[in-house]
Parts: sequence; C-alpha cells; structure tokens
Amino acid sequence: MTNKAIRDLLPAARAIERELIELRRKLHQNPELSLEEEETSNTAAELLQGLGLEVQRGIGGHGLIADLAGDRPGPRIALRADMDALPIQEETDLPYASFIPGKMHACGHDAHTAMLYGAAKLLSERKNQLAGSVRLIFQSAEEINAGAKAMVEQGVLEGIDEIYGLHNLPTLPAGKAATRYGALMGSVDRFELTIWGKGGHGAIPDQCVDPIVAASAIIMSLQSAVSREISPFDPVVLSIGSIHGGASYNVIPNQVELTGTVRTFSRSVQMDLPARLQRIINQTAEAYRCKAELRYTQQVPVLTNHDDQVQHVEGTIDLILGRDNRIEAAPVLAGEDFSVYLQHVKGCFFWLGSGPATGAEQAYGLHHPKYSINEDCLPFGASLLAGIAINRLG
Ligand code: NI
Repeated sequence: MTNKAIRDLLPAARAIERELIELRRKLHQNPELSLEEEETSNTAAELLQGLGLEVQRGIGGHGLIADLAGDRPGPRIALRADMDALPIQEETDLPYASFIPGKMHACGHDAHTAMLYGAAKLLSERKNQLAGSVRLIFQSAEEINAGAKAMVEQGVLEGIDEIYGLHNLPTLPAGKAATRYGALMGSVDRFELTIWGKGGHGAIPDQCVDPIVAASAIIMSLQSAVSREISPFDPVVLSIGSIHGGASYNVIPNQVELTGTVRTFSRSVQMDLPARLQRIINQTAEAYRCKAELRYTQQVPVLTNHDDQVQHVEGTIDLILGRDNRIEAAPVLAGEDFSVYLQHVKGCFFWLGSGPATGAEQAYGLHHPKYSINEDCLPFGASLLAGIAINRLG
C-alpha cells in the first residue's frame, strides 16, 4: 500500500514539472546572496500559503518554516532546502540566466527550493497518507555556513525526530542518487593570520624584519601539520586561499595577511588543529623575528549521516528511481551546514543527480560560472523528498 503510494509520486511530480521549472527559473533570474533572500522567501511563503499552510518567517535571516500535519498523529520529521545564491558572475547563455550582475545560483539552491515546494504540494494532497507531521524548512545563508546554526538556535528542531535533505550534483546524471553511511562531507574551518615585521628598504633587509619571508616559511610549515602530525588515515586539507603583503617591488612591508581553510572528516582532528596551527605559526614567526596573530573559526562540523535514516532514504530511492539508479557516494571535503542539524537530530543528507542524462556533455561543477542543471532533476527531487516523508510516516 505504502510502496504503491511512493511509486505514484514520480508521475505526480512530473504532472507539476512545468510549475517547478518555472519557479526554479524565476529564482534563477533573481539570485539573492546569503542573508539577503527576501524575495526568494516571499515567493516560497506565498506558494506555501497557496497550499493552505501556515508559514513562520524571518527565522535565522530570511528562513521560513511551514508544518504539514497528517491526518493521524505520529513522528515529526523535517525536510530542508536552502535558498541562497553566490557572488559569481553567471557565464551561461541560458535564456533565464541571472538578471543580477555578479550574483548567480551557481550551487542550485534555486532548484532545491523548487523541489521542496514540489514536495510540499505533493504531500499537501496526501495528508491522509501521513501518520505524523512534516516540517518544511527553507533555510537562508547556507553558503556562509550561518543559516542552519541560526535556525537551530531559534528552535526549528524542537519536537523534530528526524531531518532529511539533498543537494544536486551536476556530475551525476539526473535520475540517479548517491548515498553514504557515516561521514559524507567534511568539517569547514576558516582562519585569518596576520604576520608583523618591520618594514623598510628592500636593499637593506638587515635593518628590517621581513614578514614576507616569515609568511613563506609559515605557509610551508603549516603543511607539515597535515603531513607529519595527523594520521594518514584521517584526511585533512589545509589550503591558504589568500596572501596579501607589500605594495612595491623594492619595499619590505610591515605586515602580511593570510586567509585559509581547514577541512577534515574527524571531529577530534578538527578540535586539535587550531592548537597545532597556533604552535607552528608562533614558533615559525619567532624564528624569523616576527609576531603573528591567528584568528580561527570553526564553522561547521563533519556531516555525518545516521545509519537507520540512510537506510530509509535508500529504500525510498529504490522505490522511486529504482535500485539501479542508486550509487554509493564518495566522501568529499566540501562542507554543508546541514551537518549542524545532524548534530541535534538523526537524519540523512544525500546527492541527487542533476547532470546531463547521457553523461556525454560536459557538466560544470558546483560554484562554476557556467554551472547549470538538467531540469529533469526537479520532479525526481520533489518526489524523493515527499517519498521520504510518506515512507517514514505512511
Ligand atoms: Ni550548495
């Protein structure tokens, strides 16, 4: 009975495919950056209200939630989509490319928003199949790792038993999905580093303290924290993303500024790294007579799926897409603030294929100026999200 109801969701989602495509294109043309998603939030709120749902707004920025109660009592699960765009100049030739210079939905959060609305529409027509309730979470500010934390602080997970979410993946053909038990995505930390020396003429370094040479030594030494101090079985990435110092070819500057990011799959490695970096930075700076200040921010934890919920998602994928279209996801050190929800309630995050069906065309990756999705993924995403709810509460 429930299995048939779940299998029926994909045809039902295809019947509203045009509406989902139009919604996604409207959002795509009007991208809004993190914490600026006011119009996107207005659009989502109006559509949800059109389904007869009560919407709570302004949660964690422009985030909103709507609760969809089934006809009978039972567990409470949450489905989450993110809404923000990126500060990227779109370089696609799409007829519905971004209207806004320098802003682009280059991570497909426009599609995630449309999919969750599609799921809401499917579920609102099937309340009689739900014993329990579904909280729809439209989150702001995923790209700056701020939205999930803010929503949790404002209590969106209170009373929620499980949470589910997906991210599109343009390197996986539409119609396929990828799951993984345990750690799926890495933790995300960022740091800023200032190194002070004593500036002067480039021809008389002995009367200066050169922060550029110290910065160079620090950059090289930091890699040894990864290669010599962490087990090779614990993946860690430490990347310096920017380095700024000096303004002229013949002047030793006073200071150098660096920024970087650290990613790992291990909670204990994540916790240990700031002290390791601090030690290497301070002592290397001192060796070069410089002073250094490290400002370190732990942004999001490792995204770790819970076994029962992965199994539940896999069962739903098998019913809707078919077992042949489910693959095991490779772990990645990119981050996703869905991990914050998973620290509080059990759940599963998975990849939904959004690439060319054949794989023959080249797909641009997430955050690329030429990134685009195969819109066939919209009904797959909507039906999977609705199916997860019906499968759990059916
Ligand atoms: Ni994203």
